[in-house]
Amino acid sequence: MHAAWIVKHKPQTLSEVVGNAEAIQKFTEWARSWDKRIPKKRAAFLHGPPGVGKTVCVEALAKDLQMELVEKNASDYRTAEAVQRFAGLASQYGTLFGGSRLVLLDELDGITGTADKGGVGAITEIVKAAQCPVVLVANNAYDPRFSTLRKYCLLVEFKKPTVREVMKHLKKVCVGEEINADEEALKFIAEKSGRDVRSAVNDLQALAQGKKRFVYEDVAWLAERDRKDVIFNVLRTILYSKDSWEAKKAVDAADMDTDMLFQWVYENVPYHLTDPQDLAKAMDALSLADIYRRRIRSTQDWSLLRYVLDFMTAGVAMARERTKPSGWIPFRFPEKIQWMSRTKAEREMQSAIGMKIRRKCHVSSVRAVKEFLPYIRIIFENNPEMAAGIARWLDLDETMVNYLAGRKG
Ligand SMILES: Nc1ncnc2c1ncn2[C@@H]1O[C@H](COP(=O)(O)OP(=O)(O)O)[C@@H](O)[C@H]1O
Ligand SMILES: [Mg+2]
Repeated sequence: MHAAWIVKHKPQTLSEVVGNAEAIQKFTEWARSWDKRIPKKRAAFLHGPPGVGKTVCVEALAKDLQMELVEKNASDYRTAEAVQRFAGLASQYGTLFGGSRLVLLDELDGITGTADKGGVGAITEIVKAAQCPVVLVANNAYDPRFSTLRKYCLLVEFKKPTVREVMKHLKKVCVGEEINADEEALKFIAEKSGRDVRSAVNDLQALAQGKKRFVYEDVAWLAERDRKDVIFNVLRTILYSKDSWEAKKAVDAADMDTDMLFQWVYENVPYHLTDPQDLAKAMDALSLADIYRRRIRSTQDWSLLRYVLDFMTAGVAMARERTKPSGWIPFRFPEKIQWMSRTKAEREMQSAIGMKIRRKCHVSSVRAVKEFLPYIRIIFENNPEMAAGIARWLDLDETMVNYLAGRKG
């Protein structure tokens, strides 16, 4: 079994925590002030987004100041009575062995149910009378439930660390794991985690564990996967929602290229609408969408786009009537998109040359590509002199000449 890296590489002292320097300083000063006298605010309330190091800072501070840490969390706050049961912990400064104590009440957002008022009330009472430092942690300190409690606390706001700071921690983890990691790869993970250190470390472990080298190519596919998830979600609503409105909304939200979405729907409909009548209806809707698509292309009248979208979303969604539910069917990547992107540059080049031929030979450019191009190519590959003459006559540019001669460029 491999240990979780968030545990294995957890900061052991405050100096190892990345980001939030100001918050950490404010928090440390408050904790140290207990050495002299009980401060006005007997509790510090650390708040901010998840995974940025709130809990780990309290733990590291206790280690740094050699305090005994008592941790409580959501499951301990179920009722006011449950809270009162550990209230005594905060009522004395010292421990039995003469050290000092720090009481951490973590994950306060987790107080739920009807008991929450009582629970928060009991915590407020603990704070008011605390004889040792009490630290509260929650994502949102401004939740109305905490409005009274908040008055007795020193608020310490934690923010998301910068990408650089998250990367710094990831680098340290990689050193510890003896992984030679590229900056770019770590940067990608830091950004993708939304600067949540916990999930960044988890992602890193999932992707890099067991590797000696960790490079950008190891993570780049994640960007692709996201995109695919979006498309799959849209397809799922189009092919499975009963609600045509929902299907339309899904497409709006996804902000996808219409032609591409059309290919996806077209490719997948037959596998998901297996009843022949349903399929026929869906295909009818798609053919109508296709008619409007073509009309837009020839007239550039983009107001027709909403008909295209309506037919290929709502039209397809409504076709599902008789198809019996079956198990999970994977979505297929449309062949046509792969093919088109692979050959797009080549097709453009061919039709450009076709236009040049048309001008001189008075044939259509399609015919020029089909019937003339293969011969011209043979000449270019075998007879440079004659090729040069043809190039001048047809007025071909350098890239066209290179293409015909089979050279890249
Ligand atoms: N700022 C940070 N520096 C280093 N490690 C961090 C940081 N924030 C989070 N981690 C890692 O993520 C784990 C969970 O962080 P935690 O302190 O529980 O976040 P929070 O309490 O803000 O949700 C930690 O144990 C640690 O491994
Ligand atoms: Mg936490």
